[in-house]
Order: sequence, then C-alpha cells, then structure tokens
Amino acid sequence: MPGLGSRRQFPALIAEPDLVYLDAASGTPTPEPVIARLTAELRGPAANPGRGGHPWGRDALRRAEEARETVASFLGASSPDEVAFTRGATAAMAFLADRWAPAALADGGDILYCPDDHLSTVRPWLRLAERMRDRGVRTVPYRRDRLGRIDPDHFAHAASERTTIVVATDVHNLHGTRTELDALPIPPGASVCLDCSQSSGRFPLRLAESRAEVAVVSGHKMFGPPGTGAAYVRRSQQHRITVDRAATRSGPARHVSPLTDAAEEGSLDGVGAAGLASAAAFLDSIGLARIGDHLDRLVTRFTAGASRIGGVAVLGPPSETAGEPHSGIVAFSLDGQAGADVAFVLERRGVYVRAGDHCLDGPREDAVRASFHLYNDDNDVDRLLQGLAVAAERD
Ligand SMILES: Cc1ncc(COP(=O)(O)O)c(C=O)c1O
Repeated sequence: MPGLGSRRQFPALIAEPDLVYLDAASGTPTPEPVIARLTAELRGPAANPGRGGHPWGRDALRRAEEARETVASFLGASSPDEVAFTRGATAAMAFLADRWAPAALADGGDILYCPDDHLSTVRPWLRLAERMRDRGVRTVPYRRDRLGRIDPDHFAHAASERTTIVVATDVHNLHGTRTELDALPIPPGASVCLDCSQSSGRFPLRLAESRAEVAVVSGHKMFGPPGTGAAYVRRSQQHRITVDRAATRSGPARHVSPLTDAAEEGSLDGVGAAGLASAAAFLDSIGLARIGDHLDRLVTRFTAGASRIGGVAVLGPPSETAGEPHSGIVAFSLDGQAGADVAFVLERRGVYVRAGDHCLDGPREDAVRASFHLYNDDNDVDRLLQGLAVAAERD
C-alpha cells in the first residue's frame, strides 16, 4: 500500500527531491499506477471507443464503460449512468449551466451563487441569468467572510421561495473550508449544484446521499490525467438535460443516459477516462479517511508553527476542527506583503505555493495558498515555515 507522506509513487517528485510541492489544489503530480494505466492504454489498440464496430472499437468502449463504473462508485453515485466524462470541472460546470439548468428555470426563478467562489462556478450562472432574464431568471449572491465561511443568516436572507438553483462549492479553493450543505437553509424545492473540484480526492464523496442533485469534479486535482473531469447528474434530474438528437448520431460512443448523450458529444477520451478511473482506484487503495487525517496533521502543524511567526495571518477558520479530516488547503497572508512576493521568496527556497488572483473575482493580493496532499510530510511543513520566517524578516 502506498504510504502517506511518501513521494515513492510520484516520479515528478522523486526527480526533484529538494522540491516542496504545495500546489496540489492547482494540479496533482501523476502517480505510478496512473502513468502505468495511461501507458497501457496508449500502447494498446488505438481505436476510438465505440466507433467502427470492430473488436478494437468494442474493446475500447468496454474499457471506457468500466472506467465510468469505477468513477461513479468513487463519487458515490447510485449508478454509472449518472456520470459523464468531461475536460475538467470548468467544462462540466459550463455544461450544467447550458444543458441542464435552463429547463429547471423555464418558469423563471433565482440562482443563488457565491461571488467569492472560483470563477468557473460563477461565470456560467451569470451568463445564463443574462440569457434568461426575459423569463424572470435572476442571480442572487450569498457571501463568504474573509476566512471563507458562509454565514447561514446571510444565506437565509438570499434564499426565498423563488430560489430554484443553489450553486455551492464543497471545498473552497483558497480557504480550504468545507460547505456544510445540511447546515444551510436551502429551500426544499431548490436543486443544488455542487462544485467538488477540491473535495474529490480529499474527502469521500457520497453524492447519492447528499443534498446535491448535480455536481462537477476535476480529474487533475485528484491524481488523474490533465484535462479530465466529470459531471454528475442524478437520474431524477436527467429529464431536464437538453439532448441534441442530431448530434448524438455522430456523437457519443453509445447511449448510456441523457447525460452522457449530451455531455459526451464527439469522440470519447477513453484514455483520459481510464486514467481518471485508475486515479480513483489509487486513492481508494490508500483510503480517503486516512488521507484526511494525514492532511489534518500537516495543517495543524503548519498553523501552530505559523502562529509563532510574527505577521502571519491564516485566512481560514481557527483550527477548532483539529483532529478531524482536513482538506489540506490553507491560505495565509504575511503582514500586508504582496502574495506574489512571499511566493517568490518561498520559490527561491524550493517551496512551490500559489499566489495571484486564485481564479477569484476581486483583489487577493496578499493571499498565498499552500495545498498539501498525501505525499507531503512534516519536513515539507517545516520548510514552508522556515521560508515564511525568512519572508517575515524582509523590510
Ligand atoms: C473550486 C474550483 N472549481 C473549479 C475549478 C476548475 O477546475 P478545472 O481545472 O478542472 O477546470 C477549480 C480549479 O482550480 C477549483 O479550484
């Protein structure tokens, strides 16, 4: 079993033993089992899944459908036909806004969204509301505080009997905070669209049991190949999906569900699907509960160390949840210094973090994000803290 805190399965990290990689929330390095699976797919018969009807095409299709089963089970879907492969979470979210949501909003209604969330979870809904304004569709914002927490009272203020869709983010990409959907006063008739880009691979997802009817996942943040992801639409919601029958003739590999008919138009990326499935199997072989505990230990070590460095402010809730699984994503600022400057000092010391706009709207100049994952260890945390201590001493 691959060990937590070990780089052994990651050729990119083995190649640079002194590098401390703390940007998993942007993209995870690829582990050996996924590389092996991708290599096997690429070395094998080169058929397009489901095209041609010959044995190569049929076999490629079979492997893609097996990959769907694995990914669906990893996400806790009730059935594989509730999952479609996409080119990432951004593409999946745009698909849902374009092809699932309009039917839900046919008689008008409010889309509740959080302007403080990742732009890919914001922009498609603003565009949709603009397009459907004549039908009485509006967007209504709910906000997070500076530490990334959603205030249920603010949320309650935004919600009403007009609320038709609630767009929520499971784990915030900057603050690392998890959204407790059950703690939010979501109107009973509303459908929930959940962005699981940062939670998949960090927490077990049980989508069938969750309040979310539709969801998106990013493959390259959970050890899958770059440019992979998935859209989840519960069966009871699939009648709302717009299927272009003409497109399906030249499109999907085969009919699985209205979701796959619409989301998988064109050739299916069977290699990407297989790679994503092997990433899910890799994570399951380690165990998400163990990963969450490991990440909690690292973040607790970081926040304890950061509190001893003057000027570091952690931009997340106080770790009263220490001892419970953590996302491993933690944001901080350093005494009003520009985040890019802090990141540069760290980079010079071989510690890679994320600074910049964090794909969020509005200024985040001071925010730096460290995102830990299963291959990080205590030494990585200490190297980050040492770098921060150096940055803190600068004029
Ligand atoms: C919360 C969140 N949603 C969506 C995305 C977009 O994911 P993708 O790169 O798969 O399009 C990201 C990527 O950073 C993210 O952090």
